[in-house]
Amino acid sequence: MTEKKLPLNEDKLREFALYAGTPFHIYDGRAIRENAVSMMNAFSWSEGFINYFAVKALPNIAILRLLGEAGFGADCSSLPELKLAAAAGIPGERIMFSSNDTADEEFREAFQMGAIINLDDISHIDDVIRVCGSLPETLSFRYNPGPERTGNAIIGNPVEAKYGVTHDQLCECYRKAAEHGVKHFMLHTMVASNELNEDYIVETARMLFALVGEIRRETGIIIEQVDLGGGIGIPYRPEETAISFHHLSARIKDMYSEMIEGKGLSPLRLSFECGRCITGPHGWLIAKVLHVAHKYKDYAGLDACMADLMRPALYGAYHHITVLGKESAATRHLYDVTGSLCENNDKFAIDRALPELEQGDILAIHDTGAHGHSMGFNYNAKLRHAEYLITDDGIYCIRRAETYEDYIRTMMDPPVLRAEWQ
Ligand code: LLP
Repeated sequence: MTEKKLPLNEDKLREFALYAGTPFHIYDGRAIRENAVSMMNAFSWSEGFINYFAVKALPNIAILRLLGEAGFGADCSSLPELKLAAAAGIPGERIMFSSNDTADEEFREAFQMGAIINLDDISHIDDVIRVCGSLPETLSFRYNPGPERTGNAIIGNPVEAKYGVTHDQLCECYRKAAEHGVKHFMLHTMVASNELNEDYIVETARMLFALVGEIRRETGIIIEQVDLGGGIGIPYRPEETAISFHHLSARIKDMYSEMIEGKGLSPLRLSFECGRCITGPHGWLIAKVLHVAHKYKDYAGLDACMADLMRPALYGAYHHITVLGKESAATRHLYDVTGSLCENNDKFAIDRALPELEQGDILAIHDTGAHGHSMGFNYNAKLRHAEYLITDDGIYCIRRAETYEDYIRTMMDPPVLRAEWQ
């Protein structure tokens, strides 16, 4: 069971909502820092342990800076994400570039920044040489275990997934990299998303530890670091339970002793690329009820929409909802909680039992601290909303709301004639 907490007491949160204007995302920076530190502490037995925070989960410089200060690095998947990590002061050697279908300029930037490049395909070796003139001194490959593992709905079944090099290609990748002067080798995988079963993460460690041995036997190459990817889940539903970093770490440590130290393969650094389990539970989307409508079903229409949080519409994901000031009221009413897009799947919840709602009620939608605001979009010319960060010395605005002027900034009005195509 997991208690669904709010970042401030209800009255204060409602007061802030009225002051700041809904909708917005708000993050608890104190809890995020504590969580990051607790992960670092749990794995402190592993020398050089790091979590490269998945920037895609919450791409805000203030958050990345806070996490960088807690000892994290950044996992970037695109050129703008690389720039965000750099803007937050995260040094190149703490940046993992785990991209796929990568453009030349992205390889170039990652190389120049000294980020760790994690190649998604065997053919990318030649691409990096072509674009950057050589391979970097440190190189990582993303492994796709294919039929060896099962995935889940968000990340996909490994056999069907577009990511990573196959088992048969892996040794060839490392041999080729060594031939081209790579000195330090890493191995990465990402096989699950929002996984709450600790066994699955432990199995991923087992799989990578076994591969480290196999690669050494087959090629003589020493893998210096394994990155277990992201994907540690969070309890979106109150009846679910979070994975304990300490418990997970202890199990991985036992396996490390047996499979790495016991086989003469140490030292081997460990890393993760977790986003969701770091910031997810510490973010809330705060929105107001604009309308309560009784049609064939009962609807509560909010001033937020799926452009603020698309996980329910995209994956049927559950996000807990608290009605501020009505926590102790009976949840006797079933509502579809909707946004205002011209899309019928613009719903935060379907048939959700809630207290009776009225116009003006303020709702907190939980667990929006990862893959929330970041997955936003502008359909129906909806403007992106603000983000706030609670710290020890107050509440900061870390992204103001988009304005109409922001929205049309890239529009060419009047249109610009491309003279060369006349
Ligand atoms: N590393 C790589 C290479 C990834 O592809 C991902 C997420 C992560 C790390 C971070 O995963 P996390 O620890 O945050 O789960 N939008 C979806 C999740 C997509 C996951 C994509 N990759 C959602 O809202 O659930």
